[in-house]
This record gives sequence, structure tokens and C-alpha cells, in this order.
Amino acid sequence: MDRIIVEGGHQLNGQVTISGAKNAILPVLAATLLTGGKNEIQNVPGVRDVKTMVNLVRELGGRVDHFEADRLVLDSGGINNPVAPYDLVSTMRASCMVLGPLLARLGEAKVSLPGGCAIGARPIDLHIKGLEALGADIQLEKGYVHGVAKKLKGAHHLFESVTVTGTMNVLMAAAMAEGETVLENAAKEPEVEFLADVLNQCGAKIEGAGTDKIIIEGVTSLKPIHCRILPDRIEAATYMIAGAITDGDVEVLDCVPAHLEAVIQKLREAGVGLKENETSIRVRGNGELRPVHIRTHPYPGFATDVQAQFMTLMTLAKGQSVISETVFENRFMHVAELRRMGADIHIEGHTAIVSGVEQLSGAPVMATDLRASACLVLAGLVAERDTVVSRVYHIDRGYEDMEKKLSQLGAAIRRVR
Ligand code: UD1
Repeated sequence: MDRIIVEGGHQLNGQVTISGAKNAILPVLAATLLTGGKNEIQNVPGVRDVKTMVNLVRELGGRVDHFEADRLVLDSGGINNPVAPYDLVSTMRASCMVLGPLLARLGEAKVSLPGGCAIGARPIDLHIKGLEALGADIQLEKGYVHGVAKKLKGAHHLFESVTVTGTMNVLMAAAMAEGETVLENAAKEPEVEFLADVLNQCGAKIEGAGTDKIIIEGVTSLKPIHCRILPDRIEAATYMIAGAITDGDVEVLDCVPAHLEAVIQKLREAGVGLKENETSIRVRGNGELRPVHIRTHPYPGFATDVQAQFMTLMTLAKGQSVISETVFENRFMHVAELRRMGADIHIEGHTAIVSGVEQLSGAPVMATDLRASACLVLAGLVAERDTVVSRVYHIDRGYEDMEKKLSQLGAAIRRVR
């Protein structure tokens, strides 16, 4: 199994270009099931989750005509199989987003209950309730969610709590349901708004995406998708923190600063120098980090997907910071690994109390999920001696060319197989 070895102590300097967002392309790939022709997607991130989703669309009857970094052409004319099997769905939770589109397109969907990152129970009850509101009849059978719907019908639905992929799943189904759907307490993430924009360009009638109330007037057909994936705000935040933690000078290119406001604000509070331009952010360390309190929240709050990376930064702040995780239960698995590197972190329920230390020390550590693995690489960048991160397949799920991008900034990092 691959491992990543990071030699600590190299300041990062230079520019890094951000890839297309994993969390934006996955719903777009699910949405190709709604259209009946050649979908063309640009700025495709080279990450494993994208390959998994493309394989899933293929399994359902789609055809890949072209698949390279900058252009994916996926023909969804032949979609005819409603079954998303366990071996594909188990590795990636986002694959459950085919549920809504399959119900809309084929009137039936049989999707294995998902796996994915081990960060809490992560049920899909909110997806199911939303699709039931549109008239789908859904049963759980032998590990599969089996839904049928002769014709989905628009409805008024309130999400009990905010769910990102749940909102997108129901939104996609409603785009082709009969009549009007109103979704309340919808997720406001930029990726939801992006999906709605992409669908609207195909002829859908969606208003309000990006707010907590989305109104969808169903249409009977959608034209193929043509889009360019928006930049990955989580990848951008990770490289901003990499610049800050090494006390370096890093310019993060091709990002949307407006999507990063919460992270920018907290980095400023920590004393990190930041300069925002239209599509880039320059991050400069100023020698000393102040402790900062963080509470994760759905967008526009501080993203749970940046919590582990920010915690790593706080392990070196001068004082005590308090980090509360409110989105997922059990999202502190990186804490045990950071402690092995000398971090002083104490957990009380959903809160981590981080007391800054002078120096982290390199150690063999194990990645437990996608963002936790990024935080261990960040820790390795500044630790004394070598850090060996195992189970890096988690990184490959969501970060394109991480070692290459960090090396170009001056890190001493390599992969061993
Ligand atoms: C998405 C993101 C993920 C991010 C998360 C929160 C994608 C592909 N993934 O995941 O990177 O960490 O948003 O910003 O976009 N929940 C339920 N029942 C459900 C659905 C969710 O109880 O049916 C709970 C979850 O366990 C969690 C919370 O709701 O505690 C939020 O989860 P959700 O927003 O659904 O996360 P994902 O969409 O899976």
C-alpha cells in the first residue's frame, strides 16, 4: 500500500493552482443521468472519487467517449440499469446521489447503502424522506435502497436538518418531477448553487439555490450538460494552511475567495497575512500564530472539511484554541495521530482543546479519512524529521497531485509504493 513520506522543516513558497471541486463534479456526474445525450465537463479533477462516479454512470448504461484532465465526455443516452451495486457505492458515499436522478429518469432506483469516510453513522434518511415527499415508494431491502415512482410529483418539503448531498439528490429529482417543488432548510453550499446553474443551462427551472429555500418547476426533458467545474474551496483552504503553517509565502491560484470567507477570517484572527484578489489568495506567515476558536457549521460557516487541517495549524499556536465539530459526530479521528506527533489535544465530547506546542515531531501515522489524511501531511511539513503517512488512498480520493503540488512549493515529500 502506498505511503507518503514528508521531511519537515521546508518553508513553502510560490504558486499553486487549484483543481476543480470534487464535491461539485460528483453531483454533476449524477445529473448526467437526467439528460439523454453527450454531456461535456471541463476542469475535471484527477481524483479517485471522480473515477468511481464515472464507473457508476457507466454501470448504469452511460458511455465514456473521452476522459482526460480537461475534458470528460459522457453519453447518457443509454441509461437503462437502475441498480447501483455495492462494490461501487461502498467506497464512496456520494454515489447515493444517483438515487434521485434514476427515479426521475427510469422510475426505479436500487442503490446499495453507501460507505465512504468513517466519520460517524452518516445515514441517508433525509435523502429518502425528500424523495418520498416527491411520491417515490422507497423500501430498504438487503442493504439496498429500492425506490419506485411511476411519476415524481412536485411537493413542499422541509429538510429536518441541513444535508448537502441530500439537497442535491432531491433537487435533481424535482427538476424533472411534475409541477412545483419547494425545498426549505436547503443546503446553501456553493456546490448546490453550481449544480442548479448547470441544470438551468440544460433547461431546468430552479430558483433560490444558494439560499435555504429552493423553488423548482419540473420540466419534461433536459438538454446535455456543458460546464466547467468550479474550483475546490477545500483544496484551496488546505494549501492556504500549508503556506501558513510553514511560515511561507504561497499564492493560491484559480480559487473563489468569496467561498473561503470563513477560513480567511479565522486565518486572519490567527495572525496570518492574507491578500485576496479576484481569483487568487496570497498567504504569508508572520512568524507567530495566535490561538483561534472554531465551530464548524454548514456553509457559509466554517467547513467541517477544513476542521482537521485548521486543528493542525492550531497545534503550533501560542496558547489554547477550542475547536468544536457540530456537523459530524466522530470527526476527531486525526487527533490520536496528531498526538503521536507531539500535539497537545484534549477532547471533551464534540470539542477539542488544543494547547499549542513549540514543535511537532515526525512519526509513522495513519490516515483515517480524506481530510484527516491532509492534516497529517500538513503536520509532516513542519515536524522534526520524517513523517510517514500510510493509507494515503484516502488522499487520492479527493486531492489531485498533492505531492506534486507541494513539491513545486518547496516541500520535501515523496510517495513510496
Ligand atoms: C457533503 C460533502 C462532504 C462534507 C459534508 C458537510 C459531498 C460529496 N460531500 O457530505 O465533503 O463533509 O457535506 O459539509 O458534497 N445526515 C443525516 N441523514 C441524512 C444525511 C445527512 O443524519 O440523510 C447527517 C450527517 O450524518 C451529518 C449531517 O447530516 O451529521 C450533514 O451531512 P451532509 O450535509 O448530508 O453531508 P454529505 O452531503 O454526505
